[in-house]
Parts: sequence; structure tokens; C-alpha cells
Amino acid sequence: MGRVGTSPTAAVSDRVRECEVSGMKVTNLGEGELDFATPEHVAEAARQAIARHETKYTSVTGTLTLKAAIIDKFKRDNDLEFSPEEIIASNGAKQIIFNAFLATLEADDEVILPAPYWVSYPDMIRLNGARPVAAETTAGNGWKLTAEKLRTAITPRTRWLVLNSPGNPTGSIYTKEDLSALLSVLESRPDILILADDIYEPLRFSMPFATPLQIRPDFRDRLLTVNGVSKSHAMTGWRLGYAAGPRWLIRALDILQSQSTSNASSISQAAAVAALNTPPAFLTSWISTLETRLEIVLDMIAAIAGFKARRPDGAFYVFADVSEWISTTGKGKGISTDIELASWLIENARAAVVPGSAFGTPNHIRIAYAINTEELKDTCRRITEACTS
Ligand SMILES: Cc1ncc(COP(=O)(O)O)c(C=O)c1O
Repeated sequence: MGRVGTSPTAAVSDRVRECEVSGMKVTNLGEGELDFATPEHVAEAARQAIARHETKYTSVTGTLTLKAAIIDKFKRDNDLEFSPEEIIASNGAKQIIFNAFLATLEADDEVILPAPYWVSYPDMIRLNGARPVAAETTAGNGWKLTAEKLRTAITPRTRWLVLNSPGNPTGSIYTKEDLSALLSVLESRPDILILADDIYEPLRFSMPFATPLQIRPDFRDRLLTVNGVSKSHAMTGWRLGYAAGPRWLIRALDILQSQSTSNASSISQAAAVAALNTPPAFLTSWISTLETRLEIVLDMIAAIAGFKARRPDGAFYVFADVSEWISTTGKGKGISTDIELASWLIENARAAVVPGSAFGTPNHIRIAYAINTEELKDTCRRITEACTS
């Protein structure tokens, strides 16, 4: 446990709680979940599963019906073919990622994470005795890892490369060409595994989507493709993620899951079948709502001197560069870290954002805009007023 540091976001969360106790309402722009309701046909499928008494243990890796729906999803959306032995359903994508590290990492192994990265990856790696290796990306490069950067990050101890697209916190999407260039670097290192975290796949504004296995089918024995319904169907609380990978790895995940949590909830599995088997008619309206909200946030950023951001291609975050607001020499506005800026925004604009240092990229903040549009407008107005005054 000593390997895992205190979360850089904890200070901000503590401040939000303090403010709330003293009666000040703070808008949370820090949550990694959509505010939309789970689609009704999915909720109804869950109610029906309960009525049918589908409330018992299932096979550890998921029911055959769910696996069939996952296999169909991969075929339909990604043109990938899998057999049921190559599929696992778990308590969220998070459990799959954690268990994949637990199953494969030895002490002092290294995992390459393009930074900024999702906050949980480094601690999951540390908890499994290994070392996260941040490979920096820049807004200028679309917040994407380049082949050159990857080459310099690889060492004899590298065990995994993690690719997350659309990415949290940047919303960046890797094109086929990007993936092809990156994966070529790994040709000479068949011992390096690749984790494709595709959890935000459908939440894109216009860019097409590609997943690494489509580009390199020859990497099939070392590529784990992780996805889930948390973000695609606003189902974060249902805890249902899934993955496709080589049999040896899925078997290892099966063993770990069977001795820890067993199957994902039988009711959530039934709901996920409905989610995956029904065309996502709701998605067009979700994307257009998210686009409206994105514009609100980008307009706010444009209005504040010293805030800049690259327009994201997907997910529901804006990763803003606030470096001009941060000064260690005392010449700035009295704010010396992104964590202090986040605290300042709570106090002065009643808005909570996540400091970039939580994602391995200080001097930035992540603004999640998956909240009610009117409340978002109001909050952005408060931030603009506080910053411009
Ligand atoms: C990049 C990324 N991967 C995985 C997850 C976890 O998803 P789940 O809710 O399925 O565990 C998240 C959640 O925020 C995420 O941002």
C-alpha cells in the first residue's frame, strides 16, 4: 500500500466537501460520467431479468448470451472476430485493467502510459509492484504518442503499452495511421503487451474510430481490447465492462476473477445484452448535446486570458492549458500549482475541476462537461467572471 501516493485530487475533493458543509453549493466539473439517464430499454431489460429470477451466480466470465452480444458488437463495430473463450465480462473496465496488470506484471516491470493518462492507471501498476513510465505527449501533437517518443520510452523491462482512444482527459483519437506507426515500433518486441482502452469509443464528434487489433491482426496474441457500457450507455453504476484478448490472458483473468469477485452482476449482464444488441438511437442526440456543451466550455476558455485548449475529438472533457496562471516566482496571480488553481476556482467560482497533475501533466485542468447544459452555462459564466476580475 505504501507504493500508492495520496491522490492529487483528494485536496480538491476535501475543499468541495468543506464548502458544502458551510452551505456553499459547488458545481462539480470533475466527474467522469455522463449525466444522461441509462436508456429505458436497457433499464427495462434489467427489470425483466429480475422478474425472470436471473439473480443467481453466472459463469465467472459472463453468460453465453452476453458473450454472444459482445462478439456481435466487435464484429459489427470493429470487424473483429472472437470466440467465447476470448471474451470476459467484469465489474467495469476497471476490474479488467487491474486484473490484466495483476496477472502479468512482475516486480519492477514497466508500463508505458502516454501522458496525460487516466488517473487510475499508474496506481494500478504500482499496486502490482511495477512502474508506470509516462511518455509525454503535447497539445501540438494532438495529445498523441508519437513513434519516436514510444521508441525512447521502451526499455528491456517494458511489459505493456497502454493506448486509450478517445482519451481521458484529452478527448484525442488515434487514427489508423497513428496506430500503425506506433504498433510498428513494437514489431521487434513480441514480449510487450498492448492494452487498448476503448471505453469512450462511441463518444466522438466526427473522427472515425480504429482499434489497434484492426490495424495489426498479427498482434492478436498480445493485445487486450477493453470496452464497456459505462460511458457508451451512461451505465457507470451498473459496473459492466468487457474485453477480448488471447485465450491465455482471458483464462488468467477468469482465474483471478473467480477467486475474487466472481461474475459481474447477473442483472447488469442482462442489461448489457439489451444495450449491445439494440442500435443506439439515442446516441445522435447525446452527441449533439455534448457538442453544444463543448462549445460553451470552449467559448469560456477563449474568453479567459491565459487559458487555452485544443478542441477534443471525443469523450466529454476539455483539457485546458492554464500555465500562464501558474507562477513559482511570485509574479503570477499568487497561484503556484494547478492544484492551487483548482482550489481557487472552488472558492471564487464555486466550480470544481481536476488539476492536470492528477493525469501526469501539471499546469493544466480537466473540465468535464457532462452536466446539465443550463448549469454548465452558469458555471462557465462564474469561472469567466472570477478569472477576468
Ligand atoms: C480511460 C478510462 N478507462 C476505464 C474507465 C473505467 O470504466 P468502468 O466504469 O467500466 O470501470 C474509465 C472511467 O472513468 C476511464 O476514464
